[in-house]
Parts: sequence; structure tokens; C-alpha cells
Amino acid sequence: MGAALITGASAGLGAEFARQLAAKGLNLVLVARRIEKLSEVKRRIESEHPSVGITLISADLSDPSAPETIATQVAEAGIQLHYLVNNAGASGPRLLQDSDWQAHQAYLTLMMTSITELCHRLMPAMIAAGHGRVINVASVAGRIASGGDSHYGPSKAYVIALSEALALTVKGQGVNVSALCPGFTHTDFHATAGMDDVKQTTPSWLWYGAEEVVREGIDGVELGKAIVVSGRLYRWLDPLMQSVWTRWMFKGQGIPESSQD
Ligand SMILES: NC(=O)c1ccc[n+]([C@@H]2O[C@H](COP(=O)([O-])OP(=O)(O)OC[C@H]3O[C@@H](n4cnc5c(N)ncnc54)[C@H](OP(=O)(O)O)[C@@H]3O)[C@@H](O)[C@H]2O)c1
Repeated sequence: MGAALITGASAGLGAEFARQLAAKGLNLVLVARRIEKLSEVKRRIESEHPSVGITLISADLSDPSAPETIATQVAEAGIQLHYLVNNAGASGPRLLQDSDWQAHQAYLTLMMTSITELCHRLMPAMIAAGHGRVINVASVAGRIASGGDSHYGPSKAYVIALSEALALTVKGQGVNVSALCPGFTHTDFHATAGMDDVKQTTPSWLWYGAEEVVREGIDGVELGKAIVVSGRLYRWLDPLMQSVWTRWMFKGQGIPESSQD
């Protein structure tokens, strides 16, 4: 069995991907900035699955050199990847209000360039092996344009488009690529962004657990689905969000930036 490389594995969906893929017998390469949090995830998984080999890589994916460094470490350790989960992400600066362009550039590097480069560097070995799975974690926010959301939704829309194009490109070669699109999910995401109020101001039935979102993501990529919208409610809403009428309504109203998910 090969290994799964998971970015943003120190918390939330990434830590849950690590847990579920370890349970399938995959070795793990866990990537994030906070090495102490990664070590906690490693200890927890080792206590449940002692035979799983776990490598930790501390990297900041908003640094343009990070994907090359990660790919080099994987190659030098002789690790054969079966799964790539591009999951790291965060809420970002406001495009028109926050004046530090470097912060915007770093954000776009994290949300789009790092994912693209990790696919570029790591997928050819999967294609050569005739087997691989790639999950790029996007969002339902990437499925519809909304006023006030100039970075997050558009970057997720790119991840969805990239995943669909890659899925078509590698079709029939044993490699499946999916964009996983969750809606509101219980993780550290909103607290990290200082948006704790979103949980109080949105109905509880809009929220899903990380276990379900990740399970549906893994099932979806195994089935070869290019876009996996997780959660029954969001699967029901998704076709509506693609309709011209809904888009017209959203254009009129906009969604406040603070409700990004
Ligand atoms: N929660 C939701 O409602 C929701 C909904 C739709 C989509 N998503 C997407 O799901 C993905 C995972 O988010 P989550 O909800 O699990 O949030 P989370 O609990 O805050 O976890 C985010 C992860 O990303 C990592 N990360 C953030 N910035 C990074 C950087 N510059 N370099 C490397 N790693 C970085 C964090 O690790 P370190 O801080 O240790 O680096 C952490 O492990 C994101 O792409 C998010 O956009 C979330």
C-alpha cells in the first residue's frame, strides 16, 4: 500500500482525512505549518493504527518554494504516493480593503498556486504507476459568485475548474481527481478567521461534521466523480445555485464576506 500526502493535516478536515486514510492502511505524509499540532495528530493515529508509517513536514504553503521542497522530501524518502489531498486553506484578506498586496499574493499562492504545483510535481508518478487519487478541497463557495467575496470563492472556483480539467486529462489512466465541495463544516476554520459569530448566526442544520464530509470525499474520488458536493442539503442546493435565476438573486443581494465557508 502506498502513502497519502495531506496538506493542512494539523486540524479540521485534514486531520480527519489522515484518520480515515490511515484506517484504510495507507502510510501518511502530513503537511502544515504547526509541527506540534501535526505531532498530536500523528500520536493519535499511531495509537489506533501502530503499523501506519507517518512522516511530518512543516511547510508554509503560502511560500512559493514550499511545494518543491515537499516533493523533494517525498522523493528522497522513496515514498510512493497513492493519495494526494490538497486541503490546506483559510479565509483571506479583503481584496479591496486590505492594502498590503504581499498578503494577497501569499493568500493566492496558498489557495491556488500551491495546489496546482503539487499536482504538477506529484501526479506524473501516479500516472506512471497507473494508480492514484487526488482530492482538491474546494467549497460550495466556489460554485456561485457573490458580492463581497473577491478572493475565497473565486480561488475555490479555480480549484474546481482545475480538478475537472485534470480529471478529464488523466481519464482512463488509473488516476481519479475530485474537487470536494463542502458547505459549513465543524472545524477550526471560522474560529481561526475570527468568524466565531457565523456559527451563532447560521442555523445548525446548515452545518456538517468533518467525518461525513471526508467520508463522502473519499467515496467520491474512488467512484471517479470530478465534483463531489458533500452533504445532502448542499447536493440538493447545488443545482439550484447553478440556475440563472438563483445567480440573478445572488447578484442583487451579495453575501457578506464574514459568512465565507
Ligand atoms: N470548515 C468549513 O466550513 C469549510 C467549508 C468549505 C471548505 N472548507 C475548506 O476545507 C479546507 C480545510 O479547512 P478546515 O475547515 O479543516 O479548517 P481548519 O480546521 O482551520 O484547518 C485548516 C488547515 O490548513 C492549514 N493551513 C492554513 N494555512 C496554511 C499555510 N499557509 N500553509 C500550510 N498549511 C496551512 C492549517 O494548518 P497550520 O495552521 O498548522 O498551518 C490547518 O491544518 C480549506 O481548504 C477550507 O477552505 C472548509
